[in-house]
Formats: sequence, C-alpha cells, structure tokens
Amino acid sequence: MRYGYFDDVRREYVITTPQTPLPWINYLGSQDFFTLVSNTAGGYSFYRDARLRRLTRYRYNNCPLDSEGFHIYIKDGDCVWNPGWQPTQTALDRYSCRHGLGYTVIEGEKNAVSVRQEMFVPQGDNCLLLRVTVSNQADAAKSLRLFPYLEFCLWDAMDDGSNFQRNFSTGEVEAAGAAIYHKTEYRERRDHYAVFWSNREPAAFDTARESFIGVYGSPARPRAVLEDGCANSVAHGWQPIAAQQFDLELQPGRSESFLFGLGYIENPQSEKWVAPGVINKARAEAMMARYATDAQFDAAMEMLAGFWAELLSGFKVSTGDEKLDRMVNTWNQYQCMVTFNMSRSASYFESGMGRGMGFRDSCQDLLGFVHMIPERARERILDIAATQFPDGSAYHQYQPLTKKGNLDVGSGFNDDPLWLIAGADAYLRETGDWSILDESVPFDNDASLAQPLMEHLRRSFTYTATHLGSHGLPLIGRADWNDCLNLNCFSERPGESFQITGPSEGPVAESVFIAGMFVKYGRAYTDICRHLGLTREAEACEKAIAAVEAAALDAGWDGAWFRRAFDAYGNVVGGKECEEGQIFIEPQGMCVMAGIGKESGQAAKALKSVEERLDTKYGIVLLQPAYTRYRLELGEISSYPPGYKENAGIFCHNNPWIVCAEAELGHGDRAFQVYRRTAPAYIEEISEIHRTEPYVYSQMIAGKDAPSFGEGKNSWLTGTAAWTFLSISQAILGVKPCLDGLRVDPCIPASMKGFTVSRRFRGAVYQISVENPDGVQRGVKALYVNGDPVPDGVIPVQSAGSTVSVRVVMG
Ligand code: GLC
Ligand code: GLC
Repeated sequence: MRYGYFDDVRREYVITTPQTPLPWINYLGSQDFFTLVSNTAGGYSFYRDARLRRLTRYRYNNCPLDSEGFHIYIKDGDCVWNPGWQPTQTALDRYSCRHGLGYTVIEGEKNAVSVRQEMFVPQGDNCLLLRVTVSNQADAAKSLRLFPYLEFCLWDAMDDGSNFQRNFSTGEVEAAGAAIYHKTEYRERRDHYAVFWSNREPAAFDTARESFIGVYGSPARPRAVLEDGCANSVAHGWQPIAAQQFDLELQPGRSESFLFGLGYIENPQSEKWVAPGVINKARAEAMMARYATDAQFDAAMEMLAGFWAELLSGFKVSTGDEKLDRMVNTWNQYQCMVTFNMSRSASYFESGMGRGMGFRDSCQDLLGFVHMIPERARERILDIAATQFPDGSAYHQYQPLTKKGNLDVGSGFNDDPLWLIAGADAYLRETGDWSILDESVPFDNDASLAQPLMEHLRRSFTYTATHLGSHGLPLIGRADWNDCLNLNCFSERPGESFQITGPSEGPVAESVFIAGMFVKYGRAYTDICRHLGLTREAEACEKAIAAVEAAALDAGWDGAWFRRAFDAYGNVVGGKECEEGQIFIEPQGMCVMAGIGKESGQAAKALKSVEERLDTKYGIVLLQPAYTRYRLELGEISSYPPGYKENAGIFCHNNPWIVCAEAELGHGDRAFQVYRRTAPAYIEEISEIHRTEPYVYSQMIAGKDAPSFGEGKNSWLTGTAAWTFLSISQAILGVKPCLDGLRVDPCIPASMKGFTVSRRFRGAVYQISVENPDGVQRGVKALYVNGDPVPDGVIPVQSAGSTVSVRVVMG
C-alpha cells in the first residue's frame, strides 16, 4: 500500500494522507542551520549541533508521536484545525505534503478554506522560513483566526530534558512588535538568542506555554485557540514558546500570505545589549528585513533550487526504469548529502544528544558524496585524520563542534584505520588532487605531532599489518564494522556500554571481515604508493596483503563461506559448527569485494551460500540462525531479539556490499536483484509493512525471525546511503573513477538493453552511452571517446570545462 507518490519532474515525494505509518520527514538546511520537518509539520530546529544549540523542543517518545513542531492553527467558527492535521487531528477535506530537495510544502483544506505552509532554510542564512497562504474558496466571506506555535528548547537539549529544577526557572523572552526573542541564559554566558517573527503585526501573542495551551491543555486543544485568544503572556521560567494570533477577514476567492521565520543570532560580547535587560536586535532585524516580502521569499527559494540542481547534476542516469532513475538521480544522492551533513546525530531515531561523528561512519559517508562537493570531502578527511593516534589506531568518534576525539568512547575499533584509506582513496580517484597527501595533519589533534596525510595512511596500513592474531588474521579489538560483535567485552552488568567495557585489545579475537578490508584497502594504498613511485614500499605491502589473503582463504574459510571471526577463546564465530550465527553477511561481502577467492572459486561459493542461507524477500539478513539467548562471549549482538538490528536484521548497509561482490564476479542479474530489494522506490508498494519513508533508506529492516518482518527502522542516517550509491553507480552502472581516468565497465541485468549516464569528473562532463546488444551481464567489447576507440577501457582525464561523448558497447 502507498501513502503518496513520486513527482519526478519536481523531485518531490508527495504524501497524500497525514496518517503515514510513521512520521515521514525531510531535512531543511545544508550548512549551519538545520530543521527536521515531518509530513504533519512536526520536527525541530538547531544550529550546528543538535545537542548544544537546539532551538526548539522535541519529545521523541511522546504520545501521540510527533506532537512538537511548526504548527499553524486555523480557527474557522467552531472548527479548529491544522493544515498538517497534527496536533488537533481534525479531519481535513484535502491534504498533501510535498517533501522536496531542502524544502517542504504542506497543504490542507477544511470547509472551503485552504492553507499552504511552505518551509525551507535559505542558503547562507541561519533561519527557517515559513510562508502560510490562506485562501477562501467559499462563496461567502470568512472570519478566521490563525496562530503559529512553537516551543523553545533551552539550548542544551540534554539539560532541557533532564535538569528541571534549574531550567524551570531560567526561561526568558522579550516580545517586541511582530517578533518574539528567546533569550534564556543570554544575560550570562551565552551570546546568542533565537527569534521568531512574522511580517505582520499580530493581534496578540503568547510566550508562556501555560497561557497558550493551558496547564492541563494539550497542543491538540490549546486554550488560546479554543477560547478567547492569546493573552500577551511573557514567560518567566517554565516553558517559553512563540505563539501569535492573527485575525483575518477573507473575501470569497481571496488569498493572503503570512511570512514567518525562526532565526538564530549571535552577538559579540560587547554588542549584546542596547539597554539594561534589553537585547541588541539589530542582527535579527536585518534578518527579518531580508525575508519580509513574498518576492524575497521566492528569490531565496529559487536560490535553494539552483543549489540542489547543481549539486545533483554531477551524476544523471537514464535507464528507462523510472524507479532506478529516481533513486540514482535524486533520492539516493540527496540522502548522501544529508548523511554527510548530519552524520548519525539528528533524525527521528537519533536524538542529537548521543554520538558525535563516527570515524568509520564519516569515512564511509564520503564515498557517497565526494563527487558532489569534493572540497568538503577534502576538509572532512583532514579533520578525521587529525583524530588518529600516532600508532595508526583512531578515536572511534569525534565532536563536530571541537573536531576533537571523544574520550568517552576512546579507540580500539580495529576496522577504523582502514576506513581512512578508503575515504582518502575515493577522494584521490575522484579529484586527482594528490596535494592532499602532502597536507600536514596532527595526530591526536596535537599539532606538534603533525605529519603529512600520506603518513597517516601508512600508519593505518601498518597498524593492521602489525596487529594480527594467531591465525594470521587482524585482531578485532573492541569491534569491527559490526559494533555489536564485542568479542573482548564480557559484560554482565545492565547499563554497561558494550562498546567500551572490557579491554580494548584482546590478544586473541580476530576478524575475517578486517582481513577482507585489509586486502581491499591495502591494495588501494599500494596503488597510491606505486603512483608516488614508492615501489619498495608497495612491494612490502603486497607481501603483507598476500599473507592476510592466504589466512582468509585458510583459517578464515569454513567450507562453503567465509567465517566471521575467532573469539577470545579461539573459537570460530560464523561457522557450521556454531549452534547459532553460523554464517554472517559481512565477510562474504568484504572478502569478495576484495577479490579474495575469486580464482579458487571460493568467492562464488560464498555468495551462493549468502543466497541460500541469508536471502529474504525484503533483503539479505545479517546472519543466520539468529541468536536466541545472550552470549557473554559475543556481546551486544546477542542482546537484540532475533531479527532485529545486528542480530539477523536486514542491516541495509551491508546489502550493497553483496551487490558490489556479485558485480565483482560479473553477476549482473543477481547484483541488480539484491539492489532492488532494499531500494526504497521499489518497495514503495509495501509502505504499510516497511513503515519508514519510501524515498530514503533505513538502517535496518526487521529480518525474517522478527514478528514484524519487513518493518524499517532508523531511517535517513545510515551508511547505506553512501554504499548503495557506490553499488549502483560504480558496480552496476559501472562508472568508476580511477587514479588515472574514468573506467566504464557495467555489470547489469542481461535484460537491460542499455542506458546513458552524464557524469561530471574532474571538471569535464562525460556523456556516456552504453549499449548491450547481445544481452550480456558483463563485458565491454568496445569503447569510444569522441568517436575514437580507447583500448584499455579507461577514459583518460579530459580537460576541465569540456564535454566528451563516450560510447560503450558491451558484449
Ligand atoms: C551503526 C553504526 C556503524 C556500524 C553499524 C553496524 O550503523 O553507526 O558505525 O558499523 O551500526 O554495527
Ligand atoms: C548500538 C547499535 C549499533 C550502533 C551502536 C553505536 O550498538 O546496535 O547499530 O552502531 O549502537 O554505538
């Protein structure tokens, strides 16, 4: 069942009922000021850091769900309603929500009054803009009341939700004209405030929640709306809000628009006040003046559209399959940008108060957006590398505000160092900017320890090469990609973190997955060495890689698939002798992507085992059989009920690894089958089962062992975005940036007769047209650049600014 449809021309998902299975959200903002907004106008805003600079409140586990946001109330006689349905839930005569690229438009109609609520964050400014257009479609004049309402957060979201003895006394506001200033803590150490404004003078306002809602009222039945209007309340402590009241007489056929904004303003210490207790509003007033008219609002919206059009123009495909095209051209790339901006901080599942930026997460996110904004990828790589320790290991997380490693989580996740190579390699292949390797980058954020980035990559490689266990496989440490496989943890106390309990370095537990990574990214590092003329180093690396590859094919091989690990007792994890958890997806994907066992046939066997044992109609589960009881020696993985998360859920992130692995073996039909099963546009029809947004990936879909098989969770912020983009653009469509050019080597379903791709690469545009006359899955018979044949399949780098036409004939 569907709850809307894709509008491909406008690049929107149009939701046609407010009662989606879960709130379906969008992200507004792409630099410093962000807003999450749902299809019923729920959500919240923050400046840079969702924990420390939260502008509006949100209660994640509220009942009903999603009751805080940017709501507009309409009072039409006795009828009180919201264009987005929430919070009054008054039934609407017509409703739609269009989530577009960086904007959302909600329209509701009731009793011949229609209200359109447009929202976006303008480029280069720290505010959310709203335009509310009210139209009277009745035959008679209407007397209406309109109220915008939002609840301020007292900046630190964690404190705001816990330290009530203090913060019920700190809230302060100023109301002046059509603006409400939220200035809690501004009198002391803060030099910033929030402002909510309108471009018209309201009839009245409220800034105290108690006054607008009533002590025992609710957002569904606000006192001021139901009874006699706003009371010009001034909040002193308790819960500061912004609410305004507008009374309007609307003739038949007439429309009126109201412009609102929510801004974040910083003032230098010396310019904080204009009079004792009166804040300096100059910057806020300048902001309001920038968006005071419909023309200004429209111009800002146009600028935003231009930004996104340009960003997504670097990769455009036309395959004749509209679902594929809309995923690749719009939604997958859009999600890649959002995950790059947000990392794993703020979504409807991530509270913004938990983790900072993950070392491995951010390195992988790079893979999906480096073609869109290489400059920001460059900066990100250098930031991440600065949190690496001198021995090559890394802080697992770092804080975006300080860019410093996070001591609470520390290090010891032994896959982390190799992801740095993955990110840097992707950047080099995309840009050819070798100068990044010469950039001087601190270790452990200590400038006195700075070394060129190349040295960081070297230490990443060396760390793995020198931390091998008794089977010749890399030691796992606290965990590898699978945060929940904690082989050195042994936690028995509730509340202990599985990620940091126990010694970080076990002398024994080894990971076959990291072995696969070492071969794959170790080879990438070796190519970099060769490119730099470091032949002897490259040869030494190759030796180290060959040894680990051999170990993976020997101790790492279970007979029909790759094992997962050896635990702290030296026992096999992910082998046929295991009672549960006999086969895991990760080592099959990573080892085959690395080409391990390709010649011996083990790679093909491993993928066959995945198909036989892990496939479901909704995607590939992480492991089988699911763990049914807690296993002290394995850690968090067995703490989840069967079918959820890492315990045999369909962890979307590693499904594209299988896509890439299948493509590595030339299996185009199977690669595309795996791709399609989790791709949102292809599963739109089962939205009532999947529940999360049909335009973005979720981290997890409940596996076949779960009672809710097929249900998505943790939508939006997941490494799935980057990896699926990689799997479709590079593995299936086969357009791969290489160190010295662009390779085109598709691996597609035999039934696909051809496609075209327009790809921006190092400043030139490549118009690629692929023909598949013989219906093969893999193989390039001929490749022409501007009509001339290119023998080795790699298109040499073209001069920036040029447009080249590339013809590829498969066969
Ligand atoms: C989460 C983490 C990621 C980890 C994955 C598997 O998505 O953000 O770092 O690799 O879970 O445990
Ligand atoms: C939990 C989650 C895992 C995530 C980790 C981050 O363990 O199951 O997906 O990577 O938290 O710390």
